[in-house]
Amino acid sequence: MMNKKTPIDYNVVTEKIKESGLRSLGTATIREIKKLVDEIENATGEKFIRMEMGIPGLPPAQVGVKGQIEALQRGVAAIYPDIRGIPVLKDEFSRFLKLFMDIEVNPEGCVPTVGSMQGSFATFLTLNRIREERDTTLFIDPGFPVHKMQHKTLNIKYDSFDVYNYRGEKLRDKLESYFKTGKIHSILYSNPNNPSWICFTDEELKIIGDLANKYDIIVIEDLAYFGMDFRKDYSKPGKPPYQPTVAKYTDNYILMVSSSKIFSYAGERIGMLAISNKLYDKSFPNLKRFYANDKLGYSMIFGTLYPLSSGTSHSAQYALAALFKAVNNGEFNFVEYVKEYGEKAKIMKRIFTENGFKIVYDTDVNQPIADGFYFTFSYPGMDAEELLKNLIYYGISAISLLITGSERKEGIRACTSLIQMDELPLLEKRLKQFHKDHPL
Ligand SMILES: Cc1ncc(COP(=O)(O)O)c(C=O)c1O
Repeated sequence: MMNKKTPIDYNVVTEKIKESGLRSLGTATIREIKKLVDEIENATGEKFIRMEMGIPGLPPAQVGVKGQIEALQRGVAAIYPDIRGIPVLKDEFSRFLKLFMDIEVNPEGCVPTVGSMQGSFATFLTLNRIREERDTTLFIDPGFPVHKMQHKTLNIKYDSFDVYNYRGEKLRDKLESYFKTGKIHSILYSNPNNPSWICFTDEELKIIGDLANKYDIIVIEDLAYFGMDFRKDYSKPGKPPYQPTVAKYTDNYILMVSSSKIFSYAGERIGMLAISNKLYDKSFPNLKRFYANDKLGYSMIFGTLYPLSSGTSHSAQYALAALFKAVNNGEFNFVEYVKEYGEKAKIMKRIFTENGFKIVYDTDVNQPIADGFYFTFSYPGMDAEELLKNLIYYGISAISLLITGSERKEGIRACTSLIQMDELPLLEKRLKQFHKDHPL
């Protein structure tokens, strides 16, 4: 590499990586990579193709902005919101679940949280207390690194496995081997998956649901990318196909729906929890050790969410209520709005594979993976650490799969949201040079 002419000044990049003090780029967090790349951009004046952070690349859905402004003008900012959520939001979200997933969750169990991030934090905290003898969350990885950080912050246990080799029927024995230990209280996965964009098939969701019934385990289904498997059209209210869900196969579920990606509403920090009707009213005697009440739904809201933030931003709740209402009424097609991510992914994947790169998580059992918000890639002969570092010299930033619980040591995650369509030729130019400079 020494003295090689790279698209971003070789010496500056080398210097900045050294200065960053990061022991390894392969295990650096998303924010650390972002900081490093910001500094290189500032020092060189060159723009990177930014693929590290999952920020929505679209303006916020306007129905929400309007609903929120109107609520602010009515004066809601002065008033503490009901911690259970405002009724109109609870009703519209319950309706949304019926119309887009074909499941019934009473408005009571539909609860706003400060981003899906707070929803997961509250869920982990509460579920860790339901049974004294069960102290571990199981993650189906690869996954969102912040969920593991939350466990560390709470000082609670988790276990995980990489699903790469356990797709389809193979998932059953693998899950059962964990459930049999008697230590697992709940299991979490995202679907579509961040970072790999794999989507579980209905067969796989049924396996998860059946085992959750058999071992009485709670499934936390993270739907941050609701409806964004663009191979199917999940955008028509009340009409199949519906967003697939484990809720079809078990009543032991808590769903998490984020507004960040589907409505480009990340800045307002609001998401929804849906606690199944059965779980909402279920008694867990062990909860009495921590809360006034042993009912799961009641404890989650009045025992956990209340002390965390005393509810979710009042005006943001009105924004979300307006959004779900418009979507439910068929006035706003939220899937159409975000489809651009899939279109970019398709082109980006072509550019990468034409230049020697491989897609790492490339199938859902027997069909090619969808084009969406993320995809994963590798370059023959390089591990993730090396590849990530080399790409920085070519003005391309991403994160390593090592921090996501993936066992694919060669894998990198690309996020399609920030790159603009008119930057794709630059990506192609840089990858062509990369390919030329690193012949296979
Ligand atoms: C899988 C997954 N879960 C949860 C979140 C967090 O969502 P929110 O912005 O609503 O806190 C994200 C955001 O990137 C995500 O990718």
